[in-house]
Amino acid sequence: MELTRIQHTSISFISSFALRCAVDLDISGRIREHGRPMPLNELARSIPIPPEKDSMLLRLMALLVHQGYFVQSEAGYQITPLSEHISTEGSDVGAYVRLVTEVQLLKDWDRLSDVFKDTSKCTLIDKLYEGKQFFEVVKEIPKFGNLYNEAMASTSKSLMRGLLARYPHIFEGIKSLVDVGGGTGAAVRIIAEAFPTLKCTVFDLPHVVENATKTDFIDVVGGDMFQKIPPADAYFLKNVLHDWADEDCIRILKQCKEAIESSKHGGKVIVIDIILDSENDDPKAVETSLLLDISMMCLHGSQERNKQEWHDIILGAGYSGYKIYPVQLGVYSVIELCP
Ligand SMILES: C[S@@+](CC[C@H](N)C(=O)[O-])C[C@H]1O[C@@H](n2cnc3c(N)ncnc32)[C@H](O)[C@@H]1O
Repeated sequence: MELTRIQHTSISFISSFALRCAVDLDISGRIREHGRPMPLNELARSIPIPPEKDSMLLRLMALLVHQGYFVQSEAGYQITPLSEHISTEGSDVGAYVRLVTEVQLLKDWDRLSDVFKDTSKCTLIDKLYEGKQFFEVVKEIPKFGNLYNEAMASTSKSLMRGLLARYPHIFEGIKSLVDVGGGTGAAVRIIAEAFPTLKCTVFDLPHVVENATKTDFIDVVGGDMFQKIPPADAYFLKNVLHDWADEDCIRILKQCKEAIESSKHGGKVIVIDIILDSENDDPKAVETSLLLDISMMCLHGSQERNKQEWHDIILGAGYSGYKIYPVQLGVYSVIELCP
């Protein structure tokens, strides 16, 4: 029924906050630690919540069971592969859940229509924070910045494992790699583990790489990718270009190309980002990509891109060609650029 679909979409924000509540109470971690099906009252006492609120927890769990985060039997609740990802002990995509339900990101979404009507080009962020760009706001509010970096790192883990399992050859034969906009180095740590002889560098804004750990195999460099990128054979740009308008993407890709051309070994650029019209037969992935596109529009004034838009950017930056890998990693695609 149409009304039900409209009600469902309108009220879906409650799903986000129910999931956030599960993350904050570490429901998944508690059930996991219990080691066997966990009855409601034991779950409630472990949090702990007062007994008179057990019925509230029952209702929260009913929604989360319905959504596939937990299974319920007479013996109690058990985790599923979904909730495995939000336990503090698991790969902890919980940080991502906390980020997208964070008040700094939610402000003013009720006034989205104003962004359309406003004659000056603007995003929700620059309306709220006096013309500042998203990454300036991230820098100025350390609590938000830390959460942002933690959330980005948390989504890296399962994605990078999928990438290395499916396409290890992308990294074979490379001697040095820079993760441009690599945050606090989560992706590079996983690459370095898989390819111990590869010299990896995490490169990001100086205040971000302050939280990255330098090791024997991983160098840490702070800077601005629009100014200068450290030399390497290969550049890795995961979830970076979608933050930027076309002309900025072209500038970033040109920086990488120049750096590769000055290296003795030749090289490539590996982009991990969404391709909107790629053949993804998972309707959830398609919808997630479209939601992320609106999010990019509102927060950064940027966008997710279709194949033609990627083609124009890559060739616009002077690359001779590129290859899109057929298997997607959730919503993400892999694009390999040849200088
Ligand atoms: C969406 S996050 C992606 C982080 C990481 N690549 C990942 O996938 O988890 C974008 C990153 O770009 C970085 N960034 C933004 N502006 C930058 C600049 N001018 N120079 C270098 N890094 C920048 C941000 O600090 C942030 O870490």
